[in-house]
Amino acid sequence: MALIALASAKGAPGVTTTSLLLGALWPRPVVVAECDPSGGDVATRMPGADGGALDPQTGLLSLAAAGRRSLYPELVDAHTQQVVGGLEVLLGPPFPEQAGGLQTAWPQLGPLLARLPQHDVVADLGRVGALTPQNALLASADAVVLVVDTAPSSVVHLRHRLRPVSDAVGGAYGAPLHVAVVAPPKRTQTVREIRDALTATDVALAGVHHLAYDERGAHLFQGQTVARPDKLALVRSAGPLVSELAAAVAHGSPQPGPSAADVAPAPAPPGATAGPDHGSWTGAHR
Ligand SMILES: Nc1ncnc2c1ncn2[C@@H]1O[C@H](COP(=O)(O)OP(=O)(O)OP(=O)(O)O)[C@@H](O)[C@H]1O
Ligand SMILES: [Mg+2]
Repeated sequence: MALIALASAKGAPGVTTTSLLLGALWPRPVVVAECDPSGGDVATRMPGADGGALDPQTGLLSLAAAGRRSLYPELVDAHTQQVVGGLEVLLGPPFPEQAGGLQTAWPQLGPLLARLPQHDVVADLGRVGALTPQNALLASADAVVLVVDTAPSSVVHLRHRLRPVSDAVGGAYGAPLHVAVVAPPKRTQTVREIRDALTATDVALAGVHHLAYDERGAHLFQGQTVARPDKLALVRSAGPLVSELAAAVAHGSPQPGPSAADVAPAPAPPGATAGPDHGSWTGAHR
């Protein structure tokens, strides 16, 4: 199915959090793949679906080892794990030192993850720089979301990275580039200014979206339980982005997607509490 790649240009604006959020709200079966060679965070942040710890040795590295001779889609299932709430995750290498084990796998991972027969993949690429090896995945992406915070230096770094990322996805006819600006809900003017700064380059952007800076919402992806997740500013703010992306990558052509209202209450973000008053968070959707 489709590969949606998330990345930042610099700093830690929330790529991992946003990847898990998109995965939790995604309207089709999905795997979140931690393709960040600087070391994964999900295993240390999130409990498994049974409340126990995730196995940090099962993930991208074990997949690459198992597929040393031939990496094919049917292998992937055995290396994913469910986090609390039911989301399927392919854990990244725990530490940068271990990411060397992926050296020969990076070029194969994009084509593999972009064409899983039953799942879309949301890939957390971490920071993409001039020489980072996970850049190889961009060539296979069906859509890219660049995450940025409101610091002027972050916006400047992202502006510089737009051209290389656009070239990596195949230029104007390649995958659409979206930007998610993580900003407090009321800072709409700041987001408008960032949109203006980013759209004033020669790289066409498919959308610049405002994602709420919301500490309670982010706690969901730190393994904490939060009541009424559907009411959280972070969850609500992601609805339009999820709808737009899911529609754009469905079978490679734009299709009507779910509305923001439809999207938010569907699958459960990790840590969502469900009960008589807690809406219809239903958990795994594999
Ligand atoms: N929308 C948000 N609102 C509030 N806090 C957030 C949001 N997104 C992320 N955070 C917080 O910011 C910190 C960094 O988030 P995260 O790990 O997702 O960033 P990252 O870009 O993946 O960083 P890194 O480059 O280190 O992998 C975490 O403490 C996270 O809880
Ligand atoms: Mg991260």
